[in-house]
Amino acid sequence: MKVTALADAKSARRKFFCRILGYSAFCFTFGHIMLKLFHNHSFAIDLGNNNTIISDQSGPLLAQPSYIVFNAAHNVKAVGDHAYAMFEKTHEELKPVKPLKGGVIADYESATRMIQEMVKQVYRKRNFLSGFGHVISGVPYSTTEVERRALRDALEQVNSKKSHLVFEPLAAALGMGLNIQQPEGKLVIDIGGGITEIVVISLSGIAAFQSIKVAGDTFDETIQDHFRKAYNMAIGLKTAEQVKIQVGAVSDKLPVAPEPMMVKGKDMITGIPVTRKIGYAEVARVLERSIAQIETAIIQTLETCPPELAADISETGIHLTGGGSMFRGIKERFERNIKLPVHLDSTPLKSVSKGISQALAAPQNFRSILI
Ligand SMILES: Nc1ncnc2c1ncn2[C@@H]1O[C@H](COP(=O)(O)OP(=O)(O)OP(=O)(O)O)[C@@H](O)[C@H]1O
Ligand SMILES: [Mg+2]
Repeated sequence: MKVTALADAKSARRKFFCRILGYSAFCFTFGHIMLKLFHNHSFAIDLGNNNTIISDQSGPLLAQPSYIVFNAAHNVKAVGDHAYAMFEKTHEELKPVKPLKGGVIADYESATRMIQEMVKQVYRKRNFLSGFGHVISGVPYSTTEVERRALRDALEQVNSKKSHLVFEPLAAALGMGLNIQQPEGKLVIDIGGGITEIVVISLSGIAAFQSIKVAGDTFDETIQDHFRKAYNMAIGLKTAEQVKIQVGAVSDKLPVAPEPMMVKGKDMITGIPVTRKIGYAEVARVLERSIAQIETAIIQTLETCPPELAADISETGIHLTGGGSMFRGIKERFERNIKLPVHLDSTPLKSVSKGISQALAAPQNFRSILI
């Protein structure tokens, strides 16, 4: 009798502990799921004229062209890569939009939808229920209050707790590994898709600057225009961009010449598809005026720069980033014409995004540059 009672007590105790253990495991798993579901992610966004990059503290999560296509019912048909692939190939039922122009939002509604769709691709729909924590976005330095307001409003549509902006040239400098807090002057040039910004940075601020809307899009339009005028040949903007990338140069005498490119388009008189060969020297001559405009803006920035900072820059030189910094011969040309050493960024399409990502990881260190 005594033995059976002891065994019963033991088994009851075991059952009790098992139940406690099961209950704890359930609580832990359930809590973990709820935490994941309702944890407010924070993210950084470089909403570029041509490329949008979404990243978090540890690095990029999505990098896609800044394009969106709507269908006839005004629903989103495609964004990013898919939308870019459809560009200049759509029919009247589809409406392709490039929401940014000159580096700023030109079509507010399309920009908002594009951001929402891209954020959904990264975080899926569930995060829209719980919302996001902090969102940090880059913005060109030369933007007006109204343009910044539009960007902030567009960011708030993703249900974020707070949105911050950071000037893109400062972010680019951070992304290039420069110490922007030092008093030593640094000349940073970002040749993007819609805007070229030239700034002198010191003590986490901008001491002199010039911004011009001569950048990637201008180069594409100039190449397109050249084909029309010189050869009566119509080419699309995407083809013009390919010409710029494949045989683009800023000097007609390169030590290593790229292979000429066969360009496909349409004869504007007969309407028949035609092909024409183009080499880098011709592209360099076509782009000469735009590149010279950028050089003039660099000189103007140096002219307005305080002498002590100019003295620093004569030692530190130019830090060049943005897609336009990948032109063949640009380093040698700027060194020859501006007479300063030029440092090319090794990841020119990512510098701004890398910089904002750093600010997101340690906002307490970068409070002074967040707006
Ligand atoms: N090899 C290359 N040579 C010249 N231009 C290039 C090259 N590769 C890409 N580009 C151009 O760089 C531009 C995109 O650069 P980037 O991503 O820095 O611009 P963005 O950030 O989208 O624009 P913005 O800074 O003006 O808002 C495009 O116009 C693209 O055609
Ligand atoms: Mg940019």
